Amino acid sequence: MVDASRHPNIKLLTYSEVKEVSGYIGNFKVKVEKKPRYVIAERCTGCGLCADVCPIEVPNEFEEELGPRKAIYVPHGQAVPLVYTIDIDNCIKCYKCVDACGDLSAIDFSQQPEEIELDVGTIIVATGFDIFDPTPLEEYGYGRYENVLTTLELERLHDSGGPTVGQLIRPSDNKVPKSLAFVQCVGSRDTRFMEYCSGFCCMYTIKNALLLKMMYPDMDISIFYMDIRAPGKGYEEFYQRARNMGIRFIQGRPARITEDPVTKNLFIEAEDIALGQPVELEVEMVSLSTAAVPREDVAELGQILTISRDPSGFYRESHPKLKPIDTATEGVFLAGAAQGPKDIPACVAQGSAAAARAARILSVDEWTIEPIVAYVWSDRCINATKKCGICEKVCPYGAIVAEPGKPSRVNPVLCHGCGCCVAECPHNAITQMHFTDAQILAQIHALLAEKPEEKILAFMCHWCSSMGADNAGTSHFEYPPSSRGIRVMCSARQDQDFIYEAFRLGAGMVLASGCHPQDCHYITGQQHAAKRFDKVAKTLERMGISPERFRVEWISAAEGAKYARVIAEMDATLRSLGVERIKAENEKARPLLEKRLRRWREMPEVAEVLSADEREG
Ligand code: FES
Repeated sequence: MVDASRHPNIKLLTYSEVKEVSGYIGNFKVKVEKKPRYVIAERCTGCGLCADVCPIEVPNEFEEELGPRKAIYVPHGQAVPLVYTIDIDNCIKCYKCVDACGDLSAIDFSQQPEEIELDVGTIIVATGFDIFDPTPLEEYGYGRYENVLTTLELERLHDSGGPTVGQLIRPSDNKVPKSLAFVQCVGSRDTRFMEYCSGFCCMYTIKNALLLKMMYPDMDISIFYMDIRAPGKGYEEFYQRARNMGIRFIQGRPARITEDPVTKNLFIEAEDIALGQPVELEVEMVSLSTAAVPREDVAELGQILTISRDPSGFYRESHPKLKPIDTATEGVFLAGAAQGPKDIPACVAQGSAAAARAARILSVDEWTIEPIVAYVWSDRCINATKKCGICEKVCPYGAIVAEPGKPSRVNPVLCHGCGCCVAECPHNAITQMHFTDAQILAQIHALLAEKPEEKILAFMCHWCSSMGADNAGTSHFEYPPSSRGIRVMCSARQDQDFIYEAFRLGAGMVLASGCHPQDCHYITGQQHAAKRFDKVAKTLERMGISPERFRVEWISAAEGAKYARVIAEMDATLRSLGVERIKAENEKARPLLEKRLRRWREMPEVAEVLSADEREG
């Protein structure tokens, strides 16, 4: 920490908040609000004389509120920078700190918030995590029983820099407990709260248990656990060391903790899975190893940075296996628990990787982007005359600006090429390079040129369902040869009119497919597609097309077997419906489907595809 603060190329902005981020890879503009400390950082020597004379004491957040701090304070002794801050909400303006500071004159009550604007090439998000508050788990009595603490609170108590100078004492009587039980997975792996495993709790519980065993060899220590997860280097040996030192491991999640109102001792009721019988243990203190949860401001910051979150609420990486450090916004990287709970070695490794990814960008003068970006036909965009702005609303990257009175504009550097805006534009005013309507339409026409009623036309996204189809092939999963595939970047590009056009041309079945919701590479692409496909299904039914002829499936890159199964099922349905019925349905729906053609005919580049096709009969 000290090295970082002294490094000539590192500017540390503490007590500051990111307010706005604009721009793109290599060229971000970041607005930061520097909050007033009411202490001039350059003059403060961190001597602490001001805090000595301050008459106000409030709970110390760094000590998990187990000890006090003054209204002028540093979070902890090793804080970087070691500069005091006045907690203005609690300060009574007695100005004793001003007198104590003397000639240094570092106190300045006139300070105001300051806005700083930075030009940066890349951004690394390393915002960490919060700890789950176990109060809602009423069965454990946290907040009701004085001697039930979280493991982070317990750690502050036996830390030599903590509020009790390293003495583990129980809050009810300030005595060192003779017995202590840890409860694992509090809030984690619990469908009522967080379903995920917080990953590091097993090892940090064992670390605390070992430290306490070394400090207090006679202390009776038990750990209630579901299963010990010790996959890191040397972790299993560490676990075995704890067992050998006499720490008791009981496999079972406690059902209830109760308190003896006189002694304040605690009774833990659990089922010992190994013994297959209920156990009750009396201890003087309980420590709850709570889940790691996303930070409170995670949604707000995610919006500022245009990065998405996974179902657990942590920031989502661009790809879990191939781009685990990148986010969907190019030039923004993730490090540490901002991405998900992880232990210190993993955070250090990811931090180094993020720095290396950022250095790749900073070390070159030019950066190449994918050419599959969206493009606005200014003469077709109605935003110049009427308020529209649909494209701006659906773009998950903020790459489109629809200013009133002007045609929409795409910033090609911010555009990731999902194609959602293209599919959603009701005026055919946007196209996507290399995935134009004309190109996709030409594919639909070519694939349905012969015996369309015997074909299954499958629209697939590049990242998941088309990879799933690939996986089916490379894994030699057999499926009927009736399917024909069209790949676009995201299911969001699968325009409703592609599906209608396929049926107009007589397709037997149509499959719209993409990634599972949490896997979509374009933040909200899959969500837009899912809504659109719901509407399409209803419209087709109204047109008289059997509902089973249009199917929507979310298939991951690893689900080759699923892709093969879906096609086999669709093929079986196709056969059971029979060619005659399919033809009859298509014929009945034709007039309505023809109407949709009008849209294509207004577009010269698409009309060309249609008329060439019609010429050929
Ligand atoms: Fe597959 Fe969006 S990338 S659905």
